[in-house]
Amino acid sequence: MTKLAKDFLWGGSIAAHQLEGAWQEGGKGPAIMDFATSGSVTTPREYTQTIEAGRHYPSHEGIDFYHRYKEDIKLFGEMGFKSLRISIDWSRIYPNGDDVKPNQAGIEFYQSVVDELLKYNIEPIVTLYHFELPMNLVTKYDSWKNRQVIDFYLKFVETMVGALKSKVKYWVTFNEMNHIDPQTEASDMFTYILAGLKYSELEGNKKETLAVIGYNMTLAGVKATRLIHQLDPASQVGCVFGITPKYPVNCDPINVMNAFKDMDRDFYQIDAMCNGEFPKYKLREYADMNINIGITEEDKRAFAEGKLDYIGMNYYMTEVTRYEDAEVNEESLFGGVQNPYIEKSKWGWGIDPIGLRYLLNYTYRRYGLPIIICENGLGAYDEVGADGAVHDDYRIDFLQKHLSELKKAVEEDKVDCFGYLMWGPIDLVSATTGEMRKRYGFIYVNKHDDGTGDLARSPKESFYWYKNLIETNGEEL
Ligand code: BG6
Repeated sequence: MTKLAKDFLWGGSIAAHQLEGAWQEGGKGPAIMDFATSGSVTTPREYTQTIEAGRHYPSHEGIDFYHRYKEDIKLFGEMGFKSLRISIDWSRIYPNGDDVKPNQAGIEFYQSVVDELLKYNIEPIVTLYHFELPMNLVTKYDSWKNRQVIDFYLKFVETMVGALKSKVKYWVTFNEMNHIDPQTEASDMFTYILAGLKYSELEGNKKETLAVIGYNMTLAGVKATRLIHQLDPASQVGCVFGITPKYPVNCDPINVMNAFKDMDRDFYQIDAMCNGEFPKYKLREYADMNINIGITEEDKRAFAEGKLDYIGMNYYMTEVTRYEDAEVNEESLFGGVQNPYIEKSKWGWGIDPIGLRYLLNYTYRRYGLPIIICENGLGAYDEVGADGAVHDDYRIDFLQKHLSELKKAVEEDKVDCFGYLMWGPIDLVSATTGEMRKRYGFIYVNKHDDGTGDLARSPKESFYWYKNLIETNGEEL
């Protein structure tokens, strides 16, 4: 039986704006998530135009990774991590996005982070866009609606590849750009997180705007892939998609067809990046909505020449496609409805380990490219016990079940999956709610939403479980 490869990349994923803090240090400029307040499972985050006194903006301090990265990476090393996916905050490198010269202090910070990882033999996987758009590119250029932003992004990519290329092999052009699409009604949260724009305030034809943003980011992705390959032929370039597989509510053919079409929302950009052209079915859909993207000959060349080497996938949940008479109060994160056959997390995210095996198979059969799971994990309320430790057996249970399905996908179904990166291996700020108390980590961070806590780090029970799992290469699940 196939086993997980000896060099299987066990590890975790983090994102700059969710943990670095130091939002005004080292020459960093303001980025979109610096204007996002903290919310909760019942109160949405707000995105303010200025920094308002008396409001809490969690990215400003994060968990202070900027000053404590050596301590944190040491703990990842202790767990035996083979890989860590980090993101580069664009606003540390080009504080305004359109600056002529990069900010040397920002470059040096990431060079030091990568050096620290290499010291522990941890393979860095570097994401070049994880919701960290310099605010000036929104206010002055209208964000990704404007093709000029693609050029600024490519300049940033070139700078970072130049700075890290001898040390970094795996690049990720974008994280979860697939959450912007005109197919479904969008929310302020996703248009803001990805592009710094609020859906409710978009002027003109909103669906067209979403289509243009989605297209421009996809184009930026293939152009960046081509560029990185040119700058470093030894590189492996991927893109990370946040996929929520859609199930039909029953076998009524209409519902099956709707669920099939719903999957396009998450897959059309993967098609565009793997098949060498922007998908015709999507262009037809746009034409039906009177949306004309205006694809140029140069764009076509970029799609043909900028194909991915591997696919990164973030998997948290599945959902049931909306159907006639669906109860709207059961809505799930991406507009579907909840599945009565599976449990939900405290944040309403459906827990579906078999969905991971399904997704791995579905994607591998469709593209035949190597896949890495770039995020998966459980956001939960953790309590520190009387003995001072967090006994997070529920997290271990979640991971065990998901990894057992991942192993089946590799060992029985022969999917080429070369790594598993758990989201948030150290507690950090939640992207959707801005909370600290939605915790994912193997490492507890003593920080709370009311601002208290000394930021001390301590291993949870899951820390030792994951360490053993890595040591046995997944044999002792
Ligand atoms: C992914 C994002 O979609 O979900 C991460 O890439 C995010 O940035 C993760 O943190 C989990 O979401 P949340 O809201 O629980 O932090």
